[in-house]
Amino acid sequence: KKEKNAIILAHNYQPKEIQEDADFVGDSLELCIKASKIDEADMIIFCGVNFMAETAAIISPDKKVLLPDNRANCQMADMISLEELKAAKKEHPDSEVVLYVNSRAETKSEATIVCTSANAGKIVSSLKGDDFIFAPDKNLGIYSAKASGKKAIIVPEDGHCYVHTMFKPEDIKQARIDYPNAKIDVHPECNDDVRQLADYVESTGGMVRLAKDPEIKELVVGTEIDLATRLKRENPDKEFYPLRRDAFCLTMKLITLEKIRDALKEEKYEVIVDEEIAKKARVGIQRMLDLSQ
Ligand code: 13P
Ligand code: SF4
Repeated sequence: KKEKNAIILAHNYQPKEIQEDADFVGDSLELCIKASKIDEADMIIFCGVNFMAETAAIISPDKKVLLPDNRANCQMADMISLEELKAAKKEHPDSEVVLYVNSRAETKSEATIVCTSANAGKIVSSLKGDDFIFAPDKNLGIYSAKASGKKAIIVPEDGHCYVHTMFKPEDIKQARIDYPNAKIDVHPECNDDVRQLADYVESTGGMVRLAKDPEIKELVVGTEIDLATRLKRENPDKEFYPLRRDAFCLTMKLITLEKIRDALKEEKYEVIVDEEIAKKARVGIQRMLDLSQ
């Protein structure tokens, strides 16, 4: 890593050994902010999924961005196509487009502004119109509409994360029985019926901050299982319970220490975003960063 003058960024869903070796661990927004501010390195090894690495490559074009396994995709990010988004814009020409960062670079190039789960309500509230096109997560679209009081035109109709939609109201009810003294914090990608039964709804970064609150001694987390790994690592005296033990993002786990070593050695797999697409996509990402820092 020193030889290549590289920096290792890791998402909160990476396993313990990667979290421990990374230079920076965060949620999607924190990783995007970090990537936009790196001066000291020539290379970013991104331990996460492809839309996160693409966003880093777009916002930090002078760095070589490597994804240690080029199959590490996010199913949700591929649920909105460029054609579908263009068709929605044609149908609603006066509506601005808020694109969840969990989307591919080419669709970001058609966005007014990008958002993450940490800032969706704030981003939508900053828009002038009474409605907005939102893609691709139905649940985050509904959540940001409620938070802003605006109408969401959601495309596609059922974009979702297979990990977060596993959670059911019964899981929350069971957690209240199993852990009567714990608070329950779920991710905005969860279904609305689940969110309504939780005590808090937050991005993974919000969960990390809440876990440090002295009032919190036990926390049930409704998100990918390795978030609890980070919480326990940073708060060894507290108890953290995954809302479901099978909430596992398979592609996040494609990244391993061995693949990080090979990525550094062989400088693979470089994330290349077409410059024309990157130029357009940068506008919506930068708008989000301007509102978030
Ligand atoms: P965060 O931005 O909250 O880290 O979420 C990213 C993600 O992919 C959730 O599934
Ligand atoms: Fe995508 Fe869901 Fe995995 Fe997050 S947890 S990266 S939204 S598939």
